[in-house]
Amino acid sequence: MTSVSLLGPGDEPIVLGVTTPAAPVRVPTTRRYLMCPPEYFTVEYAINPWMDPTRPIDTGLAVEQWNALKETYERLGHRVELIEPVPGLPDMVFSANSGTVVDGRVLGSRFRAEQRGPEADHFRRWFLANGYKSVVMPERTNEAEGDFTWTGKYLLAGTGFRTDPLAHSEAQEVLGVPVISLQLVDPRYYHLDVALFVLTDDLIAYYPEAFSPGTREVLRRLFPDAVIATAEDAACLGLNAVSDGRNVILPVEATALADQLTRRGFDPVFVDISELRKSGGGPKCCTMELRN
Ligand code: ARG
Repeated sequence: MTSVSLLGPGDEPIVLGVTTPAAPVRVPTTRRYLMCPPEYFTVEYAINPWMDPTRPIDTGLAVEQWNALKETYERLGHRVELIEPVPGLPDMVFSANSGTVVDGRVLGSRFRAEQRGPEADHFRRWFLANGYKSVVMPERTNEAEGDFTWTGKYLLAGTGFRTDPLAHSEAQEVLGVPVISLQLVDPRYYHLDVALFVLTDDLIAYYPEAFSPGTREVLRRLFPDAVIATAEDAACLGLNAVSDGRNVILPVEATALADQLTRRGFDPVFVDISELRKSGGGPKCCTMELRN
């Protein structure tokens, strides 16, 4: 209860009780995800500021943490599909970077770094083997859901470090959806999905400092009620989160973000992704959403 006092000149004091609006009831929807086990995960090259090849990686621990993420999805009723990992492709666990699927149409990927290049074709073949009829491989550098996120209305599209801005118009043509280009400016937040995620069709969470001034204005116009993350939330890759409309899977360190989400009617679900973070990845990076 908050109290508001409305007092006119010469009036008797009147105190109106104003009830704080209750958080909306959030309704989860069942999702289908494509994941790749991190059997060959390691950090042997550095293509973002999180990666330090001299720092030891515990692949066994990465596998455990990834299994816990997969089991979390399954416990929440989501379906997880798997693609076979390939030796020599240590970043293949980050399946989000290999396809953008909207209404059953697939736009594949084209990686900026040569080391990740071959991943794209493994995923292309997975889509074809799994019944997808419309699979288009991009001409322009395109790191898929690393830089593209579908709100249900718009395809939000990041650029600045990986995905070519011309890949945005290519995505609009291939997927037939309105694309909104967003400019990333902080190398730690080199992909859109480490700076912003979609909570529901009309609600997102993001870290404003990861974006250029013009892009911040665009985000404010489109999503005036957005959840604004703190520097600490962003620095643990807290924005690399996955929402099903109610449950939000996010790194265990993102406590301030989780509190905000709870106040907005969401259920935060924590996962530990300490090993994958050494490569600059979190829960969302390991999760490609298959929208039909
Ligand atoms: N090491 C990987 C890279 O730099 C991490 C990719 C994380 N994926 C993501 N969707 N942000 O490409």
